[in-house]
Order: sequence, then C-alpha cells, then structure tokens
Amino acid sequence: AKPLTLSAPGKAILHGEHAVVYGKAALAVALNLRTFLRIKPSNNGKVLIHLPNIGTSVNWETFRLRTLLTVFSGNPEQMDALKEFAGITTELSAAESLGTLAFLYLYLSISAKYGWSEEEMDLINRWAFRGEQVIHGKPSGVDNSVATWGGVLRFQSGKFTSLKRVPTLRILLTNTKVSRSTKILVASVKDKILKFPAIMNPVLASIDAISHECESVLEAMAVSPSQEYYPVLEELFDINQHHLNVIGVGHSSLDNVCRVTATHGLHSKLTGAGGGGCAITLLRPDPLMVEAARQDLSACGFECWETSIGAPGIC
Ligand code: PMV
Repeated sequence: AKPLTLSAPGKAILHGEHAVVYGKAALAVALNLRTFLRIKPSNNGKVLIHLPNIGTSVNWETFRLRTLLTVFSGNPEQMDALKEFAGITTELSAAESLGTLAFLYLYLSISAKYGWSEEEMDLINRWAFRGEQVIHGKPSGVDNSVATWGGVLRFQSGKFTSLKRVPTLRILLTNTKVSRSTKILVASVKDKILKFPAIMNPVLASIDAISHECESVLEAMAVSPSQEYYPVLEELFDINQHHLNVIGVGHSSLDNVCRVTATHGLHSKLTGAGGGGCAITLLRPDPLMVEAARQDLSACGFECWETSIGAPGIC
C-alpha cells in the first residue's frame, strides 16, 4: 500500500498563557515549523507510523488502531486506553500528537483522502484534545486548536475565533532546554491566585487586555503593513513578560533570553507554560540583528529557530 504523509504546525502563544485557564483571552499562532508523519500500511496486518522529525517509529497492529479509534470516537471517559496511546506521545508536542491522531483518522476513515470537512476537522480537534488531556492533565485546548486550524486564533473559554487576515510576522523561537511541567506550573499559578486574589486577578485582567490589544494591532498590520506597529507589539511583549514573572512562571533562563536579545534591540517573552521551555522574540524585517542575536543565544546553549506566524493547520 502507498505510504501517506501528513503534517501539523507547531504553535506559540503570543499572549494569554495561564490567564486562558481562567477564562481570559489568549492569542495563539501556528508556526511555519511543522511535524511530519508518515504511515505505511503493510500486508501483514501492521501499520508503520513514522515521525521523521523526532526519529520515532512504531509498528502497530491494525486492530489496535481500530480499538483506539473506537475509544476516541466513543467514550471519552476511557482514559486507560488513551494512556496506551500516550505511551508513544509523551515525548511529543500537541502538534505531534495531533498529527498522529489525524493519521489514525486518515488511515481508518478508509477513504484515504486529503482535505477534510469542517465536521471532520472538529472531530480531529476533539481527539487531539483528549490526547492532550492524557499528557497534560487539564489543558485549555489552545494547543490542539491551533495545530488543527492553523493561522492565528483568539482562544477564550474553550472557544476560538480565527483572525481573518494575518500579517507577515517573523518570530525567533528559542528553546532554553530547561525542562518543566505544565501541570505543576498551572497548579502553582492557581495557588498564587488563591493566596492573593486581589493582587493576581488584576494581573490576569491586564493579560486579557494585552491579548485583545495585540489582536487589534495584528489586524491593522494585516490591512496596511507598516513598521510603526513594531514598537507597540514589542512593548506588549515586555509588559506581558513582567506579568508572567509576577504570576510566578518566569525562570532565569528566560530572563537570559530577554537580556541577550535586548542587547540586539529585540524584545522577547516566554511562550507556553514558562519555568524554562521556550521563549519567542519578535523580529523586525532587518535580518542583520537576528543573526547576531542567534549567535549569542546559541553561545548560551539555547537552540533557536527562525519562523513566521500564521501557518496552515493540519494537512
Ligand atoms: O507549554 P504549553 O505550550 O503546553 O502551553 C501551556 C499553556 C497554558 O496556558 C499554561 C496551559 C493551557 O492549557 O493553556
């Protein structure tokens, strides 16, 4: 049988991480860094699932895939069976687990076709969310939605709205390589809010306002591209990075990224759960500053990728 190839975009949260867990708006973007999956059915009742980016291959029996599919589409409570699936995905990001799921869907939907209907995309998104529940505990749903739909999404209270027009915006994604647990960080934010509600709730409200402000700027930028928007976007990055430190999800490695990029006139913030993990740096069209910043970040032991926002979803 013919192998099938599928890919899903990575995601970054521009603004609203953590606050989104409390019903505030988050602005999430699909990145032009994709995870590819190949599936190759064979005659011996097995299916080879290959994720070339991370060098993982699993050879699953077809009946096992069918059982998983039944669980995914039928009974969301059956988490034990999902854990089996999580066995191969614990090392993967949302995009990767989504891709795996979509692959299963693609393969098992019999009609091996490219392009899905709205309903099918919804289904893929829901399955990916269940995969996330196994891996992360209580996810907001932002990761799987961006990996499914792509583009730029405003995500709030489990609902997302796609921005109609997306400006060209380049981002440097830096992996500090400091590992952290999203689950533990989300729990620590909860503790802080319970301990100091009058202090923390205004910070969450401010993060919400930042997401909305950034959305307006991106929309204006998409309609009439201009350099004048960069200082505003950069200032929003700076303010939010301070807020994220206030709610306790900063890390010295992230401070380092901000400091190093600032020496090159660039502005950064953490993205996602914080406590290490990744940071994003807003890039202006001038490529000279970027190369120098990259070199300094690499010298700190960080790994960087230059990318842009608004990539297509799963395809
Ligand atoms: O670290 P990531 O990329 O999985 O993002 C976590 C984002 C949080 O807002 C902290 C949690 C969530 O589920 O939205």
